[in-house]
Order: sequence, then C-alpha cells, then structure tokens
Amino acid sequence: MKLDGKVAIITGSTSGIGLDIAKCYLKNGANVVICGTNPKKLINVTNELKEEFNLDNFLVIKADVTSTEDVKNLFRETINKFKHLDILVNNAGVAPRSSMEETSDEEFLKVLNINLMGAFKCTREAISYMKDTGGSIINTSSFVSLYGSPYQAAYSSSKAAINGLTKSNAKELGKYNIRVNAVAPGVVMTEMVKNDCDEETINRLNLMTPLKRGATPDDLVGIYLYLASDDAKFTTGTIINIDGGLVM
Ligand SMILES: NC(=O)c1ccc[n+]([C@@H]2O[C@H](COP(=O)([O-])OP(=O)(O)OC[C@H]3O[C@@H](n4cnc5c(N)ncnc54)[C@H](OP(=O)(O)O)[C@@H]3O)[C@@H](O)[C@H]2O)c1
Repeated sequence: MKLDGKVAIITGSTSGIGLDIAKCYLKNGANVVICGTNPKKLINVTNELKEEFNLDNFLVIKADVTSTEDVKNLFRETINKFKHLDILVNNAGVAPRSSMEETSDEEFLKVLNINLMGAFKCTREAISYMKDTGGSIINTSSFVSLYGSPYQAAYSSSKAAINGLTKSNAKELGKYNIRVNAVAPGVVMTEMVKNDCDEETINRLNLMTPLKRGATPDDLVGIYLYLASDDAKFTTGTIINIDGGLVM
C-alpha cells in the first residue's frame, strides 16, 4: 500500500474533504490523526471510522487550529501514539459569505485566523518532527485563490495567501526533504458549500466548468494520496487545480 507505516495529521477532517482524505490514507496503510472543533462531529466521526478501521490506526483529537496550545497538543498526542510524523494536511477551513461593505474587521480576521494562521501554526509545529526524516505537507487552497469570488474577499484572500505560504515553505524546507504542495479544488459538494453557497451560484459555476459538474470529495482524494506518497518524491511547490477545468 502507498502509505504503509506513514503517520498523517489531517486538520479539518471531521467532515467533507478532510474526512475522505482520512479514509483514503487509512485504506492505504497510514496511521491517521483526525481533528476538528465540533464535539458532536468528533463523536460521529469516531463511531463511523470504528466501523471500518482498527482503533489502533487512528486518533481523533479536538483541536482548534487557531489555538497555538491546541496545535502543540495535537502534535504531542500524535507523537505519543504513533512515534513519528510523515504527512501534514492543512485542510481546516471556513468560507462565510458577506459583502465587503458589511464585513467587520473581526469577521475578516476570523477567516484569516482559521484558514491561514491555522496552516502556518501547524506547519511551524510540524518542522521539528519532520526535519530529520523528511515529510510531505499538503495545503488545501481553492480555485478562488486564482479566480476571486464576490462576497468572499476574506476567504479568497486567505486561500491566495495559502498559495504564497506553500511556495515559500517549499523553498525554505526543501533542504530537509520536506515537500510542500497545495491542492486547489473547484466546487466540492460538502457541508461548506451546502451551508454557504446558493443553488444559483453552484449551477452557474457548474455550467462554466468544462466537465459540467461540481466535485465530490472522492474526486479529490487521489491527488492527496499522490502528494503524500513517495510517488511525489520530487514534487514540491506546486499548486494543483482539481476543478474539472474551471481555472486554466
Ligand atoms: N467545498 C468546496 O467547494 C471547497 C472548494 C475549495 C476548497 N475547499 C477547502 O476544503 C477544505 C475543507 O472544506 P470542506 O468543503 O470539506 O468543508 P467542511 O465539511 O465544512 O470541512 C471543514 C473542516 O474544517 C474544520 N474546522 C473549521 N474550523 C476549524 C478550526 N478552527 N480548527 C480546526 N478545524 C476546523 C471543520 O471541523 P469542525 O466543524 O469540527 O470544527 C471541518 O472538519 C477547506 O479548507 C475549504 O476551504 C472547499
């Protein structure tokens, strides 16, 4: 299996894309640490994974990526259970919609704190654990980082910054054989889109997509598997669009 013996932390893995990445990595032999903030989702995901996978191979931790203490604890608990770390997927994110005129400083900063600072904090923490052995860091960006999106200035800004973080980290951490890449999905039918995006916008984006549909998380996991595996041993600093051709 592609990830035999590897250990992965996936932030924002209690639902949607992150949960499907977690299942894919488990099926491919990895030990996986799942995290999020919602206590109910944490219980549900534990019960769901217990049905299919061995409890020895995964750990579910409550961690808010905006909290430096929570992030430190997430990595400490991971090392306590699995002894090393090979893969970090910075996937936690929120995508609220509001007009520029009505967005408060606090609302804008909240999005940057989760989507950007969360990835920054987790990556900073991962370095010391990956420095001697190498590793793969994968950031979830978005097509809006390249394309823009009305009523999502904070979200688009956070994802554009993720692209900058990815490239700068790839240049800085390559000397430790730590590879840093990003995946930029198009529209993916998850809780995030169902809660924050109206049907008309989704239909319009689907029509503009050469493959004429939105994605399911299952459409994305192959690229996260590739980037985490040794198949991608010479791939770093890339931002890979997985969007049915929406941005090209
Ligand atoms: N869906 C799309 O169309 C789309 C497109 C491009 C990019 N993306 C990106 O894909 C990633 C996953 O989104 P999704 O579509 O799968 O939505 P989702 O189902 O809402 O997943 C978001 C995840 O982030 C977690 N999260 C939110 N705030 C957090 C915090 N402060 N600390 C830790 N975890 C936190 C959530 O867990 P809790 O609720 O338990 O906190 C959840 O597990 C996001 O980065 C998003 O921007 C999505």
